[in-house]
Amino acid sequence: MVDIKVNLGDWELSNPIIPASGTFGYGKEFAQLYDINILGSFSFKGTTKEERFGNPTPRIAECPMGMINSVGLQNPGIDKVISEELPQMKKIFHKPVIANISGFSIDEYVYCCEKIDKEKQVGIIEVNVSCPNVHNGGMAFGTDPACAAQVTKAVKAVAKKPVYIKLSPNVTDIVSIAKACEAEGADGLSLINTMLGMRIDLKTKKPVIANKMGGFSGSAILPVALRMVYQVFEAVKIPIIGMGGVSSCEDVIEMMLAGASAVQIGAANLVNPYVCKEIIEQLPAVCEKYNIKNLKEITGGAH
Ligand code: FUM
Repeated sequence: MVDIKVNLGDWELSNPIIPASGTFGYGKEFAQLYDINILGSFSFKGTTKEERFGNPTPRIAECPMGMINSVGLQNPGIDKVISEELPQMKKIFHKPVIANISGFSIDEYVYCCEKIDKEKQVGIIEVNVSCPNVHNGGMAFGTDPACAAQVTKAVKAVAKKPVYIKLSPNVTDIVSIAKACEAEGADGLSLINTMLGMRIDLKTKKPVIANKMGGFSGSAILPVALRMVYQVFEAVKIPIIGMGGVSSCEDVIEMMLAGASAVQIGAANLVNPYVCKEIIEQLPAVCEKYNIKNLKEITGGAH
């Protein structure tokens, strides 16, 4: 019998599969398709202090082996997430959830963190300093080690729950940012968010996305994500949730060998809404094929 349980710090997950923020909403739609309690956990849509309508449309562009999104952190705001979404989520998902939060200032990160930290359903707070689709927020905090450190320090001062910082790949040296977050007390890291990209419509000769650019995700970015998880694993001691282009059991195993303790699945949910279910069901047999008896033991095995 293959053991596919994994750990994120003290938290034991029944398996490493976690739908990524922004690709699974608050779980409702997917709960109509299958029992989402089979998941290790899931990361809900990025939440900000105020309600956000998001960016103008078009917000999506298809690409070979992936897609570009420029949603712009559309969400009902932290108060509604707590008063409306979390109570509904509790009815359909009975495990701790990952709360993804974003901000346009350090105070906003702290505000959201302090509020969400009090919610019993939340297992980990994932602090998004890497959204490429908003100005003066998100990625602006995650592309400089000093800024990422400042956000980490501020949220750690108010959070009792583990804080994972979600890092951007749109940087020259992700390792220095990862180390800066660890030095300020981050309990873990999530990487990578999407890669800044664009497409141009040949008929209009203008960018497809109204915001011109957006975050590229999907299978095409897996090698970049693996490289970054591998590099960060060598440099930090805290757990890593690996993500970026994962869409199969083999990708999950590769991501864990690179250094991930658990794995998020993003764009693949939008191609096949059953992908997480299928991976969880197939994972024991695929582990067996590669002579893996205990999944958690392979983390960092490629080093
Ligand atoms: O635009 C968005 O809502 C995406 C967020 C992110 O990639 O972090």
